[in-house]
Amino acid sequence: MAEQTKVALITGANRGIGFETAKQLGEKGVTVVLGARQLSTAEASAAKLKAAGIDAYGIQLEVTNSADRVAAAAYLEQKFGKLDILINNAGMTTADGLRNVTSQVSDEDLLAVFNTNLFAVVGLTRELLPLLKKSEGGRIVNLSSILASLSLHADPKSPIYASKIFAYDASKSALNAFTIHLAHELKGTAIKVNSAHPGWVKTEMGTSAAPMEIPDGAKTSVELALLGPEGPSGRFIHLGKELPW
Ligand SMILES: NC(=O)c1ccc[n+]([C@@H]2O[C@H](COP(=O)([O-])OP(=O)(O)OC[C@H]3O[C@@H](n4cnc5c(N)ncnc54)[C@H](OP(=O)(O)O)[C@@H]3O)[C@@H](O)[C@H]2O)c1
Repeated sequence: MAEQTKVALITGANRGIGFETAKQLGEKGVTVVLGARQLSTAEASAAKLKAAGIDAYGIQLEVTNSADRVAAAAYLEQKFGKLDILINNAGMTTADGLRNVTSQVSDEDLLAVFNTNLFAVVGLTRELLPLLKKSEGGRIVNLSSILASLSLHADPKSPIYASKIFAYDASKSALNAFTIHLAHELKGTAIKVNSAHPGWVKTEMGTSAAPMEIPDGAKTSVELALLGPEGPSGRFIHLGKELPW
């Protein structure tokens, strides 16, 4: 029997690592659904991929909006009846970025960053789990960051020791906790859940100072999205190598 086409949903897919991940998965024959805050942007991004011969669709998905999350699940159910790959890519950091001072982080910044980087991921994953369970091998990829690593933050010799962006770092550490907990819950099922560190990548968030180009920055997400049945679950990975939690 011919292998069924895989269907992937990528959040925050209108630019940066998310768009590139959709492109690379599409080039590998996966049907890609691009989520973006506005329908027009999602459709315009999907159109670029369609023009390159990729089976791509755009949907409105402001990840912090529960109505959008419910609508995304209904769309996927109605159109495909399943979901094989969920890339929780949408993410944000505080406006003052690297100048963030831990003791001065505002409640507003903490709430906004946790809302996007953690609560929305948990909410969307909960909504889509029934569809991922209909896949022969569901894959959930949570876009974390090396800045989530508590072990590295505590180690004065680590390369990230001086890069302490509290709201962002803590939200991604909590996202890693979600990865570990959900992977444990789904042990014994066909679903794998992993955290990806894409690298420090030249995007709006990564800035032009980053050493990695966007095509390389999408590689970890793509690799974890296409893991075979023997692949790991509940791990924190960058380009095939494990990172310390
Ligand atoms: N770049 C790096 O060096 C780096 C390093 C480690 C981890 N990461 C992680 O990798 C992921 C992608 O980062 P990136 O560098 O590609 O960032 P980016 O260029 O800033 O793009 C972020 C994407 O997320 C979307 N987004 C943000 N909040 C959203 C929301 N509430 N609902 C829907 N979409 C939302 C943005 O949409 P709009 O265009 O509408 O704002 C945009 O498409 C993030 O989770 C980030 O934390 C990046």
